[in-house]
Amino acid sequence: MRKVRMHGYDGPSALRLDEVAEPVAGPGELLLRAEVVGLTLPVLKLLRGFGEVPLPHTPGGDLVGRVAAVGPGVTGLRVGDRVGGVAFKDVYAELVPVSAALVTPVSEQIPAADALAVVRSGLVALSALRAGGLASGESVLITAAAGGVGHLAVQLARELGAGRVVAAVGSAEKADFVRGLGADEVVCYEDADWGAPVDLVVDSVGSDVLRRTAGALVPFGRLVVNSGAGGTLDAGVLLRGMHTVIGLAMSHLSRLRPELIESHRAELWQLLAEGRLRPVSTAFPLERAAEGVELLAARANLGKVLLDPTP
Ligand SMILES: NC(=O)c1ccc[n+]([C@@H]2O[C@H](COP(=O)([O-])OP(=O)(O)OC[C@H]3O[C@@H](n4cnc5c(N)ncnc54)[C@H](OP(=O)(O)O)[C@@H]3O)[C@@H](O)[C@H]2O)c1
Repeated sequence: MRKVRMHGYDGPSALRLDEVAEPVAGPGELLLRAEVVGLTLPVLKLLRGFGEVPLPHTPGGDLVGRVAAVGPGVTGLRVGDRVGGVAFKDVYAELVPVSAALVTPVSEQIPAADALAVVRSGLVALSALRAGGLASGESVLITAAAGGVGHLAVQLARELGAGRVVAAVGSAEKADFVRGLGADEVVCYEDADWGAPVDLVVDSVGSDVLRRTAGALVPFGRLVVNSGAGGTLDAGVLLRGMHTVIGLAMSHLSRLRPELIESHRAELWQLLAEGRLRPVSTAFPLERAAEGVELLAARANLGKVLLDPTP
């Protein structure tokens, strides 16, 4: 089967499409024939040598596919079932082994790219807005607003009744895109003024951008920290603003509050079915995976970046 593998740590050009043996489903696993695979930001770190994975290596990510084989001990799923889920490695391939515990059923009617938006990015976006307690009529600022998570967060904020949605992005070229999703205002990170303060910030960038976010809040405003990139906050700003900071890690939320994940997912499927959530994506065939990664690295993607592993 065809599989994209990293053969070095020198950036996207280290990705090559190889012909490899078909994997088997181990205990507790499913083998999925992938319909669509999502590129996620950690691939950039791996390709720069952070993590020191043994080579050749294939990164992980989210995917939608059909069960091609069922491993020992798996119950409730059969060959041919359509599911979505995440795998921590080996996902840029035609056949992908995944833990059966990490998949969710996907209806036959939903296009694969739309379903993928619910499986991961939409779940992150809705969980972040809910964690921040966004109430009808409140104002919210969303960073990385044009990205895979962010473009869904802008739409979901509108659905939840936000009174004012501010989209924060890395470059002004993204302004029309985020306005089209429902943003009332657009700011670039380097702008001196991010507009009137907001009730809630959802930050998916971290580092220097995270540092500025607390200053964008009204007194008693809330900040959801959603970026894996880390960063620091000025305790003095938090103290004077009487702000609340809320961390969000989907892996921990799934373990600690699985019922929330289930209810968020059900809400997202409903919004998708009613055409009120409109995922946007750009897909690349496996042989052009490096171009997809370059798009992410250039921070130029509008919506989610996908791989199409179908022949
Ligand atoms: N809390 C959780 O459990 C959880 C789960 C999944 C994802 N996330 C977070 O959600 C965020 C967005 O993920 P995503 O899948 O939506 O990503 P994505 O679609 O791959 O987003 C890429 C966009 O994010 C922005 N960005 C922010 N930091 C970046 C960086 N260090 N390098 C390149 N681009 C960066 C860029 O837009 P701008 O230049 O416009 O900012 C870029 O265009 C990430 O920070 C990720 O850590 C959190």
